Amino acid sequence: MEKRILELRELIEYHNDRYYNKDSPEISDFEYDILLRELEELEQKYPQFADKSSPTKHVGGTKSDLFSDVVHSVKMLSLNDVFSHEELISFIEKTEEQVGKIDFSIEPKIDGLSVSLEYENGEFVRGSTRGDGVTGEDVTENLRNVGGIPHFISDAPEFLEVRGEVYMPQESFEKLNAIREAEDKPLFANPRNAAAGSLRQLDSEITRHRGLEIFVFNVQQIRGETFTSHSESLAYLKNKGFKVVPETAVLKGAENIVQYINKIGEMRGEFPFDIDGAVIKVNNLELRDTLGTTTKCPKWAVAYKFPPEEKETTVEEIYIQVGRTGVLTPNARLTPVRIAGSTVERSVLHNIDNITEKDIRVGDKVIIRKAGDIIPEVVRSLPEKRTGAEIKFKMPDNCPVCGSPAVRVYGQAAVKCTGANCPAKILRNIIHFASRDAMDIAGLGPGVVKQFADNGILNDVADLYGITEEDVSILERQGEKSAENIVSAIAASKNRGLARLLFGLGIPLIGSRASKLIAEHFGDIDTLISASEDEISFIPDIGDKMAKSIVSYFSDERNLKLVEKLKSFGLDMTQEKAAQGIFTGKTIVLTGSLENFTRSEAKLLIESLGGKVSGSVSKKTDFVVAGEEAGSKLAKARDLGVKVINEIEFTDIVGGKVE
Ligand code: IVH
Repeated sequence: MEKRILELRELIEYHNDRYYNKDSPEISDFEYDILLRELEELEQKYPQFADKSSPTKHVGGTKSDLFSDVVHSVKMLSLNDVFSHEELISFIEKTEEQVGKIDFSIEPKIDGLSVSLEYENGEFVRGSTRGDGVTGEDVTENLRNVGGIPHFISDAPEFLEVRGEVYMPQESFEKLNAIREAEDKPLFANPRNAAAGSLRQLDSEITRHRGLEIFVFNVQQIRGETFTSHSESLAYLKNKGFKVVPETAVLKGAENIVQYINKIGEMRGEFPFDIDGAVIKVNNLELRDTLGTTTKCPKWAVAYKFPPEEKETTVEEIYIQVGRTGVLTPNARLTPVRIAGSTVERSVLHNIDNITEKDIRVGDKVIIRKAGDIIPEVVRSLPEKRTGAEIKFKMPDNCPVCGSPAVRVYGQAAVKCTGANCPAKILRNIIHFASRDAMDIAGLGPGVVKQFADNGILNDVADLYGITEEDVSILERQGEKSAENIVSAIAASKNRGLARLLFGLGIPLIGSRASKLIAEHFGDIDTLISASEDEISFIPDIGDKMAKSIVSYFSDERNLKLVEKLKSFGLDMTQEKAAQGIFTGKTIVLTGSLENFTRSEAKLLIESLGGKVSGSVSKKTDFVVAGEEAGSKLAKARDLGVKVINEIEFTDIVGGKVE
């Protein structure tokens, strides 16, 4: 059980980072909430594994260094989630047991990002993001460019702090992504990410053009006015010119409430903005105080989360895309439908086995859903709606791009193009090479690469380095300025180093993390090329299959030639070697306070000696350094029989405090 708890903590922290800091989530909120819920339940059941730093104990966001800090004088709490009517009813009944049959305010849960707005004597003076709930980022200037936020309010109280959700209307989102697509920029996954990315801009002019709006839903604090109920405070805000969350209702009793959230659910698709649930709040403000809060959430409210949206549409065509490794991937072209915040018109069908299993035919009515609210997938076909005109799909015998035979890979569902010089493979390879996690060549997105390839300028990744401004200027839509930019971005990528280069080469099974580990181990490409499988798989976390893949890649004459060609353009093929030292391969946990080191000093020191510092103790921990007042981590180390040393012993091992 402990293993699962640690696994969940790590997974949730990872997704927190993607969501809050990188504005680029990989899973839907719904899936995230399920993970968090599982962790909460396990921690409750096994209190011996409790940990103060668990993601269940803090709001997920952290703040970046881009903006100055705002400490929220009223903490910006999060909401507990419920996923079923039963859970919602139980919340209502439990609350009623405590404070009697009372009014609840029911509101749509807007899918955007939470902000606080402060007014002094009617003037908007400060606006901030939630951050971790205690400290957020000062985004005042950007918020001045968001619709629905009055800059001045008349007849104002001495001080007012309002909380609301900044969102991007679906129409603005579609427009923004269409422009980005035309400019070969990465698209935003959904309106919420687009809103977050647009609000956290250093240039508030950018925010202004993004069409952001707000709905406010709570008075955080007010001096110079009092309210007895939440609904009264919302009416007040509306009167002062704020855009207040729409479709709210004040209701009593579980039955009425469930009926109303169902109604909100039915309206979901018609709102011009995204919602991901409904919020149910105690309406009387005094009763809210009676009920109180936990460290993270009020006890007087819950969020009812809707399951991922599903829609029916038609498969108009199944077409093949040829990938970087030559795999032929079937895709469905769909009748466009709006789902979870954007219009979907295609979906990856993965492989022929998936198509056969779900019995998806051209012309079929199908149910689609956005996996992770991001990638659209066909959930199932609806055979009962067939007319007889639907056509079964068969994988082609030849690559649709180069015409070479396409063969099924033994033991796999994939069908691959056998053409060595298939233009589709080359194109995908170059796009991958230039992508952000590889050589990061700004301005060289898929559209531009395709134009180069179509003009015969690019036949392999090394050809990129021979591109001139003149070559660029013959492309459509490329002015002189951008020709210069592209050429200098390509030149700048020569210094990215071995790790990114290895990843960019697209060696099967070698992702960006493996590339980094391998590059840091060998330090330069020639040492790597002459390494054996054993030497490569000796690196922690690099398996036999990966090692085999590398050796096989570098034993192919064509790949060696490519490396030589890249070298001739002066690419840096070295990498600073990872620190090696007494802690190489060791995982160490720090707990309690150390007298002679701060936490980060100790961490840096361990890392400089090759070790890894982990936040939680597990069987994999090599040892724990326990300072004064060490708590649960020390207890856990003892429980698991993990070696514990004190600060003096630690100082001895590292050879004294390093200044
Ligand atoms: S009430 C103490 N009402 O949902 C007040 N929140 O999952 C707590 N949200 O961070 C929030 N619509 O940003 C409330 N009508 C609404 C909301 C709403 C969206 C967001 C809010 C919060 C998140 C919690």
